[in-house]
Amino acid sequence: MQKQNIVLTGFMGTGKSTIGRLLAKRIDYHFVDTDKEIENRCGKSVADIFQQDGEAFFRQQEEKLVRELAKQPRQVISTGGGLLMNPQNIEVLVKNSQIICLTASPDEILERVSKQPLTRPLLKETDPRKKVIQLLEQRSSVYAQFDQLATSGKSPEELVNILLERLESS
Ligand code: S3P
Repeated sequence: MQKQNIVLTGFMGTGKSTIGRLLAKRIDYHFVDTDKEIENRCGKSVADIFQQDGEAFFRQQEEKLVRELAKQPRQVISTGGGLLMNPQNIEVLVKNSQIICLTASPDEILERVSKQPLTRPLLKETDPRKKVIQLLEQRSSVYAQFDQLATSGKSPEELVNILLERLESS
């Protein structure tokens, strides 16, 4: 493993937090979930931040956090799905992190996010499927810059094993 940190990114509902937590445990790295960290710092949920302070404020918190995290080694960082849409965040993280993008089909994403319907403000829409497809289209060229890991049909443990093999050979 050449880089100091591992960043798991990708669309909402691709399993970044579950897999990141497991991976961190396996390699004894500190685990950071950027959404959770921002929630802790702001003292409210991401949904409340979006509603009360606006998306732009949330994106500022992401940028501030990324700059801090980039100074620490031995972390597995699971990002919010939109964090790397800010090119400055890519620029900062790519210097010392291996970035892997988890992928899933729109149907799988919808199935997973519908289990936690209140936590994703961007999907509070009359037609969440349409919104998922629209956002995936908008974001695909950014996500495509990173190593991809398809999550379909694999358990979190299997995905962590695949990640470990890749990281060891990188
Ligand atoms: C977002 C994804 C969410 C959270 C916020 C915005 C996005 O994180 O950061 O609701 O822009 O894709 P998850 O990807 O962990 O759901």
